[in-house]
Amino acid sequence: MTRFSKAGFVLSTAGSAIGLGGIWSFPYLVGQNGGFAFVLVFVVAFLVFGVSVFIIEMLFGRASGQNAVSTFESFAPKHLGFLKYGGFMVISGVLIFSFYTVVLGWLVHYMFLSIFGMPTTLEGAKNLWGNFASSQILWQMLWLFVIVAICAYILNRGVKAGIEKLNLILMPMLLFIFLGLLVYSTLQDAFWDSFKFLFQPDFSKITSEVVIKAIGQAFFSLSLGVGVILTYSNSMPKHGNFVRFAVMVALLNFFFCLIAGLVIFTFIFSYGAEPTEGVGLVFVSLPLIFANMGVSGQVIAFLFFVALIFAGITSAVSMLEPLNSYLIERYGMKRRNANFISVLCAYLLGVVVLLSNTAVFSEDLTFFGKNLFDWFVYITSSFMLPFAGVFMCIYMGWILPKERVYAMGEGYLKGIYFEGWYKVIRYIAPLGILLTMVSLI
Ligand code: TRP
Repeated sequence: MTRFSKAGFVLSTAGSAIGLGGIWSFPYLVGQNGGFAFVLVFVVAFLVFGVSVFIIEMLFGRASGQNAVSTFESFAPKHLGFLKYGGFMVISGVLIFSFYTVVLGWLVHYMFLSIFGMPTTLEGAKNLWGNFASSQILWQMLWLFVIVAICAYILNRGVKAGIEKLNLILMPMLLFIFLGLLVYSTLQDAFWDSFKFLFQPDFSKITSEVVIKAIGQAFFSLSLGVGVILTYSNSMPKHGNFVRFAVMVALLNFFFCLIAGLVIFTFIFSYGAEPTEGVGLVFVSLPLIFANMGVSGQVIAFLFFVALIFAGITSAVSMLEPLNSYLIERYGMKRRNANFISVLCAYLLGVVVLLSNTAVFSEDLTFFGKNLFDWFVYITSSFMLPFAGVFMCIYMGWILPKERVYAMGEGYLKGIYFEGWYKVIRYIAPLGILLTMVSLI
Protein backbone atom coordinates (compact mmCIF):
# COMPACT_ATOMS: atom_id res chain seq x y z
CA MET A 1 0.00 0.00 0.00
CA THR A 2 1.33 3.43 -0.85
CA ARG A 3 1.41 5.75 2.10
CA PHE A 4 1.64 9.47 2.52
CA SER A 5 4.95 10.89 3.67
CA LYS A 6 4.69 12.76 6.97
CA ALA A 7 4.71 16.16 5.28
CA GLY A 8 2.36 14.78 2.65
CA PHE A 9 -0.11 13.66 5.27
CA VAL A 10 -0.07 16.88 7.26
CA LEU A 11 -0.32 19.09 4.17
CA SER A 12 -3.04 16.96 2.58
CA THR A 13 -5.24 16.99 5.67
CA ALA A 14 -4.50 20.69 6.12
CA GLY A 15 -5.32 21.13 2.43
CA SER A 16 -8.67 19.50 3.01
CA ALA A 17 -9.38 21.62 6.05
CA ILE A 18 -8.21 24.99 4.76
CA GLY A 19 -10.76 26.01 2.22
CA LEU A 20 -13.52 28.37 1.25
CA GLY A 21 -15.46 27.59 4.42
CA GLY A 22 -12.83 28.87 6.80
CA ILE A 23 -11.45 31.69 4.71
CA TRP A 24 -14.88 33.16 3.95
CA SER A 25 -16.70 32.85 7.18
CA PHE A 26 -14.11 32.88 9.94
CA PRO A 27 -12.99 36.52 9.56
CA TYR A 28 -16.58 37.67 9.48
CA LEU A 29 -17.54 35.65 12.54
CA VAL A 30 -14.63 37.14 14.44
CA GLY A 31 -15.49 40.68 13.47
CA GLN A 32 -19.16 40.38 14.33
CA ASN A 33 -18.87 38.41 17.53
CA GLY A 34 -16.51 40.17 19.82
CA GLY A 35 -13.14 40.13 18.06
CA PHE A 36 -10.49 38.53 20.16
CA ALA A 37 -13.09 37.24 22.59
CA PHE A 38 -14.48 35.16 19.74
CA VAL A 39 -10.99 34.06 18.74
CA LEU A 40 -10.50 32.70 22.26
CA VAL A 41 -13.82 30.86 22.22
CA PHE A 42 -13.03 29.53 18.78
CA VAL A 43 -9.62 28.24 19.87
CA VAL A 44 -11.22 26.36 22.73
CA ALA A 45 -13.99 24.97 20.50
CA PHE A 46 -11.40 24.08 17.92
CA LEU A 47 -9.21 22.22 20.39
CA VAL A 48 -11.99 20.60 22.39
CA PHE A 49 -14.53 19.71 19.72
CA GLY A 50 -12.55 19.85 16.52
CA VAL A 51 -9.33 18.17 17.47
CA SER A 52 -10.99 15.51 19.62
CA VAL A 53 -13.28 14.35 16.81
CA PHE A 54 -10.39 14.67 14.39
CA ILE A 55 -8.50 12.20 16.58
CA ILE A 56 -11.50 9.83 16.60
CA GLU A 57 -11.45 9.73 12.80
CA MET A 58 -7.69 9.18 12.84
CA LEU A 59 -7.94 6.31 15.31
CA PHE A 60 -10.67 4.60 13.32
CA GLY A 61 -8.80 5.04 10.07
CA ARG A 62 -5.46 3.85 11.39
CA ALA A 63 -6.82 0.89 13.28
CA SER A 64 -8.97 -0.44 10.47
CA GLY A 65 -6.77 0.42 7.50
CA GLN A 66 -9.98 0.30 5.47
CA ASN A 67 -12.45 2.65 3.86
CA ALA A 68 -15.03 4.37 6.07
CA VAL A 69 -17.90 1.99 5.27
CA SER A 70 -15.92 -1.16 6.09
CA THR A 71 -14.43 0.51 9.16
CA PHE A 72 -17.78 1.08 10.84
CA GLU A 73 -18.91 -2.39 9.81
CA SER A 74 -15.88 -4.09 11.22
CA PHE A 75 -16.09 -2.39 14.61
CA ALA A 76 -19.84 -2.87 15.11
CA PRO A 77 -20.69 -5.36 17.85
CA LYS A 78 -23.26 -8.04 16.86
CA HIS A 79 -26.05 -6.77 19.07
CA LEU A 80 -25.72 -3.23 17.74
CA GLY A 81 -25.84 -4.02 14.05
CA PHE A 82 -27.18 -0.63 13.03
CA LEU A 83 -23.79 0.90 13.80
CA LYS A 84 -22.44 -0.56 10.62
CA TYR A 85 -24.37 2.00 8.61
CA GLY A 86 -22.13 4.81 9.83
CA GLY A 87 -20.31 4.64 6.52
CA PHE A 88 -23.22 6.45 4.93
CA MET A 89 -21.44 9.60 5.91
CA VAL A 90 -19.33 9.30 2.75
CA ILE A 91 -22.38 10.50 0.80
CA SER A 92 -22.04 13.93 2.41
CA GLY A 93 -18.72 14.26 0.62
CA VAL A 94 -20.44 13.95 -2.77
CA LEU A 95 -23.11 16.47 -1.79
CA ILE A 96 -20.59 19.00 -0.51
CA PHE A 97 -18.44 18.51 -3.60
CA SER A 98 -21.40 19.29 -5.84
CA PHE A 99 -21.98 22.82 -4.53
CA TYR A 100 -18.38 23.53 -3.54
CA THR A 101 -17.18 23.04 -7.12
CA VAL A 102 -19.90 25.36 -8.43
CA VAL A 103 -18.43 28.11 -6.23
CA LEU A 104 -14.94 27.21 -7.40
CA GLY A 105 -16.17 27.61 -10.97
CA TRP A 106 -17.39 31.14 -10.16
CA LEU A 107 -13.98 31.90 -8.70
CA VAL A 108 -12.31 30.83 -11.94
CA HIS A 109 -14.56 33.19 -13.88
CA TYR A 110 -13.64 36.03 -11.55
CA MET A 111 -9.98 35.16 -11.77
CA PHE A 112 -10.19 35.83 -15.52
CA LEU A 113 -12.32 38.92 -15.03
CA SER A 114 -9.67 40.25 -12.69
CA ILE A 115 -7.22 40.25 -15.59
CA PHE A 116 -9.56 41.74 -18.16
CA GLY A 117 -10.99 44.42 -15.95
CA MET A 118 -13.86 44.77 -13.53
CA PRO A 119 -16.42 47.50 -12.92
CA THR A 120 -15.32 50.37 -10.70
CA THR A 121 -18.72 51.34 -9.28
CA LEU A 122 -20.80 49.49 -6.69
CA GLU A 123 -23.73 49.49 -9.08
CA GLY A 124 -21.56 47.91 -11.78
CA ALA A 125 -20.06 45.29 -9.46
CA LYS A 126 -23.49 44.26 -8.21
CA ASN A 127 -24.89 44.04 -11.71
CA LEU A 128 -21.96 42.04 -12.95
CA TRP A 129 -22.36 39.51 -10.19
CA GLY A 130 -26.17 39.36 -10.41
CA ASN A 131 -26.07 38.91 -14.15
CA PHE A 132 -23.38 36.26 -14.03
CA ALA A 133 -24.96 34.18 -11.28
CA SER A 134 -28.49 34.34 -12.59
CA SER A 135 -28.13 34.14 -16.34
CA GLN A 136 -24.72 33.10 -17.61
CA ILE A 137 -25.47 29.41 -17.45
CA LEU A 138 -23.06 28.25 -20.13
CA TRP A 139 -20.05 29.96 -18.58
CA GLN A 140 -20.92 28.54 -15.20
CA MET A 141 -21.28 25.04 -16.62
CA LEU A 142 -18.00 25.36 -18.44
CA TRP A 143 -16.06 26.43 -15.35
CA LEU A 144 -17.75 23.76 -13.26
CA PHE A 145 -16.64 21.22 -15.81
CA VAL A 146 -13.07 22.51 -15.77
CA ILE A 147 -12.85 22.31 -11.98
CA VAL A 148 -14.42 18.86 -11.80
CA ALA A 149 -12.10 17.62 -14.55
CA ILE A 150 -9.04 18.86 -12.63
CA CYS A 151 -10.25 17.09 -9.48
CA ALA A 152 -10.94 13.92 -11.46
CA TYR A 153 -7.47 13.99 -12.95
CA ILE A 154 -5.84 14.32 -9.53
CA LEU A 155 -7.99 11.65 -7.94
CA ASN A 156 -7.23 9.27 -10.82
CA ARG A 157 -3.56 9.44 -9.95
CA GLY A 158 -4.23 8.15 -6.48
CA VAL A 159 -3.17 9.11 -3.00
CA LYS A 160 0.55 9.48 -3.51
CA ALA A 161 0.99 10.75 -7.06
CA GLY A 162 -2.27 12.70 -7.04
CA ILE A 163 -3.44 14.00 -3.69
CA GLU A 164 -0.09 14.18 -1.93
CA LYS A 165 1.68 15.76 -4.85
CA LEU A 166 -1.06 18.32 -5.38
CA ASN A 167 -0.88 19.39 -1.76
CA LEU A 168 2.90 19.46 -1.62
CA ILE A 169 2.85 21.92 -4.49
CA LEU A 170 -0.27 23.99 -3.88
CA MET A 171 -0.12 24.41 -0.11
CA PRO A 172 3.29 26.14 -0.04
CA MET A 173 2.14 28.29 -2.96
CA LEU A 174 -1.00 29.18 -1.08
CA LEU A 175 1.06 30.14 1.95
CA PHE A 176 3.35 32.19 -0.25
CA ILE A 177 0.48 34.15 -1.81
CA PHE A 178 -1.13 34.68 1.57
CA LEU A 179 2.10 35.95 3.10
CA GLY A 180 2.60 38.26 0.13
CA LEU A 181 -0.90 39.67 0.57
CA LEU A 182 -0.26 39.98 4.31
CA VAL A 183 2.94 41.95 3.78
CA TYR A 184 1.14 44.25 1.34
CA SER A 185 -1.65 44.73 3.87
CA THR A 186 0.69 45.63 6.70
CA LEU A 187 1.91 48.53 4.57
CA GLN A 188 -1.58 50.01 4.35
CA ASP A 189 -2.93 52.49 6.86
CA ALA A 190 -6.07 50.43 7.34
CA PHE A 191 -4.10 47.43 8.56
CA TRP A 192 -4.38 48.71 12.08
CA ASP A 193 -8.19 49.01 11.78
CA SER A 194 -8.32 45.48 10.47
CA PHE A 195 -6.15 44.31 13.34
CA LYS A 196 -8.40 46.03 15.84
CA PHE A 197 -11.54 44.65 14.20
CA LEU A 198 -10.17 41.13 14.60
CA PHE A 199 -8.36 41.40 17.89
CA GLN A 200 -10.05 43.91 20.14
CA PRO A 201 -11.74 41.75 22.73
CA ASP A 202 -15.36 42.47 23.52
CA PHE A 203 -16.46 39.84 25.98
CA SER A 204 -19.97 41.22 26.20
CA LYS A 205 -20.68 39.75 22.77
CA ILE A 206 -20.03 36.18 23.89
CA THR A 207 -23.41 34.53 24.25
CA SER A 208 -24.33 30.86 24.12
CA GLU A 209 -25.30 31.40 20.49
CA VAL A 210 -21.80 32.64 19.69
CA VAL A 211 -20.24 29.65 21.41
CA ILE A 212 -22.41 27.38 19.32
CA LYS A 213 -21.40 29.21 16.15
CA ALA A 214 -17.77 28.65 17.08
CA ILE A 215 -18.35 24.92 17.51
CA GLY A 216 -20.09 24.67 14.14
CA GLN A 217 -17.30 26.58 12.47
CA ALA A 218 -14.59 24.46 14.11
CA PHE A 219 -16.33 21.34 12.92
CA PHE A 220 -16.89 22.39 9.33
CA SER A 221 -13.48 23.90 9.00
CA LEU A 222 -11.66 20.71 10.00
CA SER A 223 -13.51 18.66 7.34
CA LEU A 224 -15.02 16.36 9.96
CA GLY A 225 -17.98 14.05 9.58
CA VAL A 226 -17.46 12.82 6.02
CA GLY A 227 -14.78 10.24 6.67
CA VAL A 228 -12.10 12.31 4.92
CA ILE A 229 -9.72 12.29 7.87
CA LEU A 230 -10.54 8.63 8.43
CA THR A 231 -9.75 7.75 4.83
CA TYR A 232 -6.57 9.80 4.69
CA SER A 233 -5.50 8.15 7.94
CA ASN A 234 -5.59 4.75 6.23
CA SER A 235 -2.53 5.88 4.36
CA MET A 236 -0.88 7.72 7.22
CA PRO A 237 2.83 7.00 7.71
CA LYS A 238 3.15 3.89 9.87
CA HIS A 239 5.17 5.63 12.54
CA GLY A 240 4.96 9.13 13.82
CA ASN A 241 3.05 10.87 16.54
CA PHE A 242 -0.30 11.29 14.86
CA VAL A 243 -1.78 13.21 17.76
CA ARG A 244 0.81 15.83 17.03
CA PHE A 245 -0.22 15.74 13.35
CA ALA A 246 -3.78 16.56 14.41
CA VAL A 247 -2.64 19.56 16.41
CA MET A 248 -0.42 20.72 13.56
CA VAL A 249 -3.26 20.60 11.07
CA ALA A 250 -5.53 22.50 13.44
CA LEU A 251 -2.87 25.18 13.98
CA LEU A 252 -2.16 25.52 10.28
CA ASN A 253 -5.84 25.91 9.59
CA PHE A 254 -6.20 28.52 12.30
CA PHE A 255 -3.18 30.41 11.03
CA PHE A 256 -4.58 30.62 7.49
CA CYS A 257 -7.96 31.81 8.73
CA LEU A 258 -6.29 34.60 10.70
CA ILE A 259 -4.16 35.79 7.80
CA ALA A 260 -7.19 35.72 5.53
CA GLY A 261 -9.05 37.85 8.03
CA LEU A 262 -6.27 40.40 8.41
CA VAL A 263 -5.85 40.75 4.65
CA ILE A 264 -9.52 40.88 3.74
CA PHE A 265 -10.43 43.49 6.32
CA THR A 266 -7.47 45.67 5.49
CA PHE A 267 -8.90 46.05 2.00
CA ILE A 268 -12.41 46.49 3.29
CA PHE A 269 -11.42 49.26 5.69
CA SER A 270 -9.06 50.97 3.26
CA TYR A 271 -12.07 51.69 1.09
CA GLY A 272 -14.66 52.16 3.76
CA ALA A 273 -16.69 49.18 2.57
CA GLU A 274 -19.03 47.28 4.85
CA PRO A 275 -17.69 44.07 6.37
CA THR A 276 -20.06 41.44 4.99
CA GLU A 277 -19.63 37.75 4.54
CA GLY A 278 -19.47 35.02 1.92
CA VAL A 279 -20.75 35.64 -1.57
CA GLY A 280 -21.23 39.39 -1.20
CA LEU A 281 -17.73 39.79 0.14
CA VAL A 282 -15.88 37.74 -2.43
CA PHE A 283 -17.87 38.54 -5.57
CA VAL A 284 -18.93 42.14 -4.98
CA SER A 285 -17.06 44.09 -2.28
CA LEU A 286 -13.53 42.87 -2.84
CA PRO A 287 -13.59 42.92 -6.67
CA LEU A 288 -14.89 46.48 -6.48
CA ILE A 289 -12.07 47.51 -4.19
CA PHE A 290 -9.44 45.80 -6.34
CA ALA A 291 -10.83 47.44 -9.47
CA ASN A 292 -10.40 50.85 -7.88
CA MET A 293 -6.77 50.25 -7.04
CA GLY A 294 -5.49 50.34 -10.59
CA VAL A 295 -2.79 47.97 -11.79
CA SER A 296 -1.72 46.80 -8.35
CA GLY A 297 -5.36 45.94 -7.70
CA GLN A 298 -5.42 43.78 -10.79
CA VAL A 299 -2.42 41.80 -9.59
CA ILE A 300 -3.82 41.46 -6.10
CA ALA A 301 -7.25 40.44 -7.36
CA PHE A 302 -5.68 37.79 -9.54
CA LEU A 303 -3.56 36.41 -6.70
CA PHE A 304 -6.49 36.51 -4.33
CA PHE A 305 -8.70 34.45 -6.63
CA VAL A 306 -5.88 32.03 -7.40
CA ALA A 307 -5.33 31.54 -3.66
CA LEU A 308 -9.01 30.81 -3.07
CA ILE A 309 -9.07 28.39 -5.98
CA PHE A 310 -6.01 26.56 -4.68
CA ALA A 311 -7.44 26.36 -1.19
CA GLY A 312 -10.71 25.08 -2.63
CA ILE A 313 -9.25 22.45 -4.94
CA THR A 314 -7.23 20.82 -2.19
CA SER A 315 -10.46 20.58 -0.18
CA ALA A 316 -12.59 19.40 -3.09
CA VAL A 317 -10.40 16.44 -4.00
CA SER A 318 -10.61 15.17 -0.44
CA MET A 319 -14.40 15.09 -0.46
CA LEU A 320 -14.71 12.30 -3.01
CA GLU A 321 -11.87 10.13 -1.73
CA PRO A 322 -13.95 8.36 0.97
CA LEU A 323 -16.45 7.14 -1.63
CA ASN A 324 -13.69 6.26 -4.07
CA SER A 325 -11.81 4.20 -1.57
CA TYR A 326 -15.02 2.38 -0.64
CA LEU A 327 -15.81 1.52 -4.26
CA ILE A 328 -12.25 0.38 -4.90
CA GLU A 329 -11.93 -1.81 -1.83
CA ARG A 330 -15.43 -3.22 -1.67
CA TYR A 331 -16.10 -3.91 -5.32
CA GLY A 332 -12.55 -4.39 -6.49
CA MET A 333 -13.02 -1.57 -8.97
CA LYS A 334 -10.14 0.05 -10.73
CA ARG A 335 -9.50 3.49 -9.27
CA ARG A 336 -10.30 5.03 -12.61
CA ASN A 337 -13.75 3.44 -12.76
CA ALA A 338 -14.61 4.16 -9.15
CA ASN A 339 -13.53 7.72 -9.65
CA PHE A 340 -15.54 8.02 -12.85
CA ILE A 341 -18.70 7.01 -11.00
CA SER A 342 -18.24 9.36 -8.05
CA VAL A 343 -17.14 12.30 -10.16
CA LEU A 344 -19.98 11.82 -12.65
CA CYS A 345 -22.61 11.66 -9.88
CA ALA A 346 -21.13 14.73 -8.22
CA TYR A 347 -20.94 16.62 -11.51
CA LEU A 348 -24.55 15.89 -12.46
CA LEU A 349 -25.68 16.99 -9.03
CA GLY A 350 -23.46 20.05 -9.42
CA VAL A 351 -25.21 21.03 -12.65
CA VAL A 352 -28.63 20.80 -11.00
CA VAL A 353 -27.38 22.78 -8.00
CA LEU A 354 -25.95 25.40 -10.33
CA LEU A 355 -29.18 25.68 -12.29
CA SER A 356 -31.20 26.09 -9.11
CA ASN A 357 -29.40 29.37 -8.62
CA THR A 358 -30.23 30.83 -12.03
CA ALA A 359 -33.21 32.95 -13.01
CA VAL A 360 -34.68 30.54 -15.55
CA PHE A 361 -34.63 27.41 -13.42
CA SER A 362 -34.76 28.68 -9.88
CA GLU A 363 -38.52 28.41 -9.61
CA ASP A 364 -38.55 24.73 -10.56
CA LEU A 365 -35.65 23.95 -8.29
CA THR A 366 -36.82 25.75 -5.19
CA PHE A 367 -38.52 23.78 -2.45
CA PHE A 368 -40.03 25.20 0.72
CA GLY A 369 -38.49 28.57 0.07
CA LYS A 370 -34.90 27.39 -0.44
CA ASN A 371 -33.31 26.56 -3.75
CA LEU A 372 -31.35 23.32 -4.12
CA PHE A 373 -28.05 25.10 -3.69
CA ASP A 374 -29.08 26.42 -0.28
CA TRP A 375 -30.64 23.08 0.66
CA PHE A 376 -27.42 21.24 -0.04
CA VAL A 377 -25.41 23.66 2.06
CA TYR A 378 -27.94 23.52 4.86
CA ILE A 379 -28.47 19.77 5.01
CA THR A 380 -24.79 18.90 4.91
CA SER A 381 -23.34 21.48 7.26
CA SER A 382 -26.19 21.77 9.73
CA PHE A 383 -27.30 18.19 9.79
CA MET A 384 -25.21 15.47 8.17
CA LEU A 385 -21.74 16.51 9.34
CA PRO A 386 -22.60 17.22 12.99
CA PHE A 387 -24.76 14.12 13.14
CA ALA A 388 -21.83 12.02 11.94
CA GLY A 389 -19.70 13.71 14.59
CA VAL A 390 -22.04 12.76 17.41
CA PHE A 391 -22.31 9.27 15.99
CA MET A 392 -18.54 8.81 16.08
CA CYS A 393 -18.25 10.19 19.61
CA ILE A 394 -20.86 7.74 20.86
CA TYR A 395 -19.40 4.87 18.87
CA MET A 396 -15.90 5.37 20.22
CA GLY A 397 -16.79 6.74 23.64
CA TRP A 398 -19.62 4.43 24.65
CA ILE A 399 -19.77 1.36 22.42
CA LEU A 400 -16.15 0.32 22.04
CA PRO A 401 -14.49 -0.91 25.24
CA LYS A 402 -12.13 1.64 26.77
CA GLU A 403 -9.12 -0.71 26.62
CA ARG A 404 -9.64 -1.19 22.94
CA VAL A 405 -9.78 2.54 22.32
CA TYR A 406 -6.66 2.94 24.42
CA ALA A 407 -4.86 0.32 22.35
CA MET A 408 -5.91 2.12 19.16
CA GLY A 409 -3.93 5.12 20.40
CA GLU A 410 -0.78 3.00 19.96
CA GLY A 411 0.95 4.75 22.83
CA TYR A 412 0.70 8.17 21.21
CA LEU A 413 -2.39 9.00 23.22
CA LYS A 414 -1.86 8.11 26.85
CA GLY A 415 -1.90 9.28 30.46
CA ILE A 416 -3.87 12.40 31.26
CA TYR A 417 -4.09 13.27 27.58
CA PHE A 418 -5.97 10.08 26.92
CA GLU A 419 -8.19 10.47 29.98
CA GLY A 420 -9.01 14.08 29.15
CA TRP A 421 -9.75 13.31 25.52
CA TYR A 422 -11.84 10.29 26.49
CA LYS A 423 -14.02 12.40 28.79
CA VAL A 424 -14.45 14.96 26.04
CA ILE A 425 -15.60 12.45 23.45
CA ARG A 426 -17.96 10.78 25.91
CA TYR A 427 -19.66 13.84 27.33
CA ILE A 428 -18.61 17.25 26.19
CA ALA A 429 -18.24 16.84 22.44
CA PRO A 430 -21.50 14.97 21.72
CA LEU A 431 -23.48 17.38 23.91
CA GLY A 432 -21.87 20.45 22.39
CA ILE A 433 -22.41 19.23 18.86
CA LEU A 434 -26.02 18.25 19.54
CA LEU A 435 -26.66 21.72 20.92
CA THR A 436 -25.14 23.17 17.77
CA MET A 437 -27.45 21.08 15.62
CA VAL A 438 -30.57 21.99 17.55
CA SER A 439 -29.73 25.66 17.34
CA LEU A 440 -29.27 25.48 13.58
CA ILE A 441 -32.64 23.92 12.82
N1 TRP B 1 -13.08 22.34 5.52
C1 TRP B 1 -13.48 22.81 4.24
C2 TRP B 1 -13.43 24.32 4.20
O1 TRP B 1 -13.27 24.97 5.19
C3 TRP B 1 -14.85 22.41 3.83
C4 TRP B 1 -15.34 21.09 4.28
C5 TRP B 1 -16.33 20.90 5.15
C6 TRP B 1 -14.91 19.83 3.89
N2 TRP B 1 -16.53 19.57 5.31
C7 TRP B 1 -15.68 18.89 4.57
C8 TRP B 1 -13.93 19.42 3.06
C9 TRP B 1 -15.47 17.56 4.41
C10 TRP B 1 -13.75 18.07 2.89
C11 TRP B 1 -14.51 17.15 3.56
O2 TRP B 1 -13.62 24.86 3.16
